[in-house]
Amino acid sequence: MSGVRLEPWGKDDLPLLEKLLGDAAMTEHLGGPESQEKLAERQSRYEAPGSGMFKIVDEATGEAVGSVGYWERSWQGGKVYEIGWSVLPGFQGRGIASLATAQAIAKARSEWKHRFIHAFPSVDNGPSNAICRKLGFTFLEASEFEYPKGHFMRCNDWRLDLFAGRA
Ligand SMILES: CC(C)(COP(=O)(O)OP(=O)(O)OC[C@H]1O[C@@H](n2cnc3c(N)ncnc32)[C@H](O)[C@@H]1OP(=O)(O)O)[C@@H](O)C(=O)NCCC(=O)NCCS
Repeated sequence: MSGVRLEPWGKDDLPLLEKLLGDAAMTEHLGGPESQEKLAERQSRYEAPGSGMFKIVDEATGEAVGSVGYWERSWQGGKVYEIGWSVLPGFQGRGIASLATAQAIAKARSEWKHRFIHAFPSVDNGPSNAICRKLGFTFLEASEFEYPKGHFMRCNDWRLDLFAGRA
């Protein structure tokens, strides 16, 4: 793997979103594929400046190979960041999600806004749980999530302290 870079999500990136979140295999651990309407709504949020969503670009070829992003959410009475990632099937297993997620974490950290960033992979999502462990997240607990609405899944709560080692 030569390397990847993150680019802000663009106006022309709906086809990438369709391949990532409109696909049954890709959304196996995410409650199933989203409707065209939901994808279009998501696209409009992602392309807004400062959305925190990025496309992952293969530096060698310039190809878009996935997405990574972070957003604010309420969690156990406070505000935290949540982070999520996705890599197209043809590019999986090469360390791309790990590299891209590390870059997104560095961006979140540089904002000095929220101390904690959480990831909530399904307990069954082997690769995503491995990524959390590898990137230094601490496992807190597994709990029941409703995502999307009406669909219940058990997810692990992983947390990283963005302020650790702050001078
Ligand atoms: C999760 C996903 C992004 C991983 O992308 P990727 O680029 O293949 O991930 P990486 O290559 O960076 O790392 C995967 C890690 O998981 C490990 N892994 C792979 N399959 C595994 C399994 N079944 N059980 C445990 N670990 C596994 C790999 O060995 C690798 O760790 P290593 O680098 O220490 O060897 C990709 O599978 C995906 O997009 N899935 C569908 C969408 C999704 O589930 N998103 C996450 C929601 S939280």
